[in-house]
Amino acid sequence: MLPADLIRFKQTGKQITILTAWDSLSAAIVEASQADVVLVGDSLGMVVLGHTTTLPVTLDQMLHHTQAVGRGFSRPINEQPLVICDLPFLSYQCGEDKAVAAAGTLLKNSCAAAVKLEGAEPEIISVIERLVRMGIPVMGHLGLTPQAVHHLGYKRQAEDSTSQEKIKQQAQDLQAAGCFSLVLEHIPGELASQITNQLKIPVIGIGAGKGCDGQVRVTADLVGLTEKQPPFSKPLIQVRQLCVEALQSWVKTQQQQEVTPTNESSQ
Ligand code: KIV
Repeated sequence: MLPADLIRFKQTGKQITILTAWDSLSAAIVEASQADVVLVGDSLGMVVLGHTTTLPVTLDQMLHHTQAVGRGFSRPINEQPLVICDLPFLSYQCGEDKAVAAAGTLLKNSCAAAVKLEGAEPEIISVIERLVRMGIPVMGHLGLTPQAVHHLGYKRQAEDSTSQEKIKQQAQDLQAAGCFSLVLEHIPGELASQITNQLKIPVIGIGAGKGCDGQVRVTADLVGLTEKQPPFSKPLIQVRQLCVEALQSWVKTQQQQEVTPTNESSQ
């Protein structure tokens, strides 16, 4: 699977499915689900590293987790899902050279074939243009951009007409800069549908209604592994609860087993 295949899926009307993975175990499960794409999202900072935001995640950590994801796949390489890796906070905001080095490090040393980065400010557009010129496929991300949490919070974005016009323009700018696809997170569904219809590249929604070309979900939220899920990602099953109950039952059984004192301890 190549980034260009996603553009073909949009043209033929095939819905694109993207799930996150963060290690070999989750990658094996997501590969078996037949999702088109595995996103090694920097949400792993919260999902598996225990941070309260994605900001502390480092490039080394993204590389470490993406390498583990690659080891989790079992299908032949040409049948594996496309792997996209998030560029973490401060790996692309400090200039084009630093961004090329960060993205290149991920593509050179892991199974990632593309990177995702957030925003569409002029500096970010220049970074994307440079990455694309260097042969590095880029997925954009607008709406709720978690790396800007201290500015935007986690609330739904683009509620008023000014910010809706801005995001429409930004989506066009990302397409013009060479992004092969775009994630829209937590924005009104009607707006996401309009952007989807206006763009040639596939638009992938999360908390952005059903009118996008595909959907992305944080796998840990979708299976109920995380303690609390965002309002737009209801769990399909309660894996956390099932695990706790099964393990509690095992622990109790072990604790109830009689221990016969040895001669030594009774002396
Ligand atoms: O980090 C992540 O998992 C993401 C998805 C929410 C799109 O960016």
